[in-house]
Amino acid sequence: MSVSFRAADIGRRSAALGSDFEVDIRKFPPACGLWSSATHMASRSVLVDDVSSRQAVSRRTSTLLMAAAPAEAVSDEKASETQEPLLVRAARGEQVERTPVWMMRQAGRHMAAYRALVSKYPTFRERSETPEVSLEVSLQPWRAYGVDGVILFSDILTPLPAMGVDFSISEAGGITIAPIRDREAFKRMTEHGAFDPASAVPFVGEVLGQLREAVAGSGATVLGFVGLPFTLGTYLIEGATGTKTGFAEMRALRESDPELCRDILALLAKNIADYAIYQIDAGAQVIQVFDSWAGHLTPEEFDEWAMPYQKSVVASIKERRPEVPVIIYMAPDTHSKAGALLERLAASGADVVSVDHTIELGEAKRRLAAAGFENIGLQGNLDPEILRDGPPERIVEETNRILSQAGNTGHVMNLGHGIEATTPEPYAALFVDHVHGFDHS
Ligand code: CP3
Repeated sequence: MSVSFRAADIGRRSAALGSDFEVDIRKFPPACGLWSSATHMASRSVLVDDVSSRQAVSRRTSTLLMAAAPAEAVSDEKASETQEPLLVRAARGEQVERTPVWMMRQAGRHMAAYRALVSKYPTFRERSETPEVSLEVSLQPWRAYGVDGVILFSDILTPLPAMGVDFSISEAGGITIAPIRDREAFKRMTEHGAFDPASAVPFVGEVLGQLREAVAGSGATVLGFVGLPFTLGTYLIEGATGTKTGFAEMRALRESDPELCRDILALLAKNIADYAIYQIDAGAQVIQVFDSWAGHLTPEEFDEWAMPYQKSVVASIKERRPEVPVIIYMAPDTHSKAGALLERLAASGADVVSVDHTIELGEAKRRLAAAGFENIGLQGNLDPEILRDGPPERIVEETNRILSQAGNTGHVMNLGHGIEATTPEPYAALFVDHVHGFDHS
């Protein structure tokens, strides 16, 4: 595989963006900083300016999008008129003409275009709750790389105020919530009134609808997402991230008042399912459900504190919107490494299990088949540190290995966890392009 071919491919895309640096970037290898800045400067400076004039944005976005649509958009257009988008079909377990690819946490911190918006919109909540900014950030990786999945730029905490729980996020990523550890504090949720995302977080639905319009005809898929009760519950009970203390407060509450703990998780399950339905009705074509921290639990604890609520949320979505594929994800942790909880995750009822990078995808596939999940879809699982550190040859080699093991049925290419903030953009571009060019025959 020749990396220079990929550079040329990006050059072709740059030409599609209507920028004039195509010839220049072909002269440089992908690992070169010049390549990176040249590739991304031209398209993004336009985007940043676009967001800066707020009123004009919604009018101008569609025109801009036409100009900035990835090159693949044109050739996929015919197929998408008659078929469901590629990623939706793969997530349903179908055999596909090429493997779809996106990257968890692709919208945000690793992109210069996103970081440029930070000075104008200094808080994460502003960026994720102002519709035109959230729309813009969601589209940045699609424009830059032509990813097949466009995920809403938002957070698993976003719906909490609609449940009576306020939160703040510092620029360093520090989360603060007034903790819920007794019945009195839980009243903030139970006495808040009905969870009504359409009125409390209308920007979520608005952006999802606009994302559908923006990618229409391109073959790309719009993904919505939610945090599952255990993971979301850790933030409510800890009042902060629990990752630094081993989720000490939640552990304590499970011991001192298991009934309250269960009530919190059950209420979250109900609201989260409604939130997923709200996102689907607004435009999300696939829902990814994150139980990122459930791998901290032993198998027995997982069965008690994570699995029932995963099943409840997934079943509720499947019952009400059976056509929408659900992808479930859990991060590698003490008890989930090397696929230790994989079969349990599959038992959630999700269509696709997102596999982290601590197990080979082929091994995950065999294990799940042996446990009776022959037809379950798989997502993943390139190590985000390999994507960050390269070199390009290693990214290509690992990507080939995963794609060969996965085959062309029921696989969505992705990372094993969120993209690292310091990942060079040309590496992300190389990864996506390489998946697009991979021939399974
Ligand atoms: O990483 C995961 O395990 C995914 C699940 C998850 C998300 N948010 C999804 C997300 C988790 C566990 C969170 C909590 C959260 N929210 C954290 C982690 C804190 C901890 O406990 O260690 C942080 C830093 C936030 C706030 C946040 N969310 C920021 C500052 C950003 C934007 C920039 C960035 O860091 O990427 C987000 C975006 C975000 N969180 C997305 C998703 C799916 C955006 C969509 C995407 O690009 O995938």
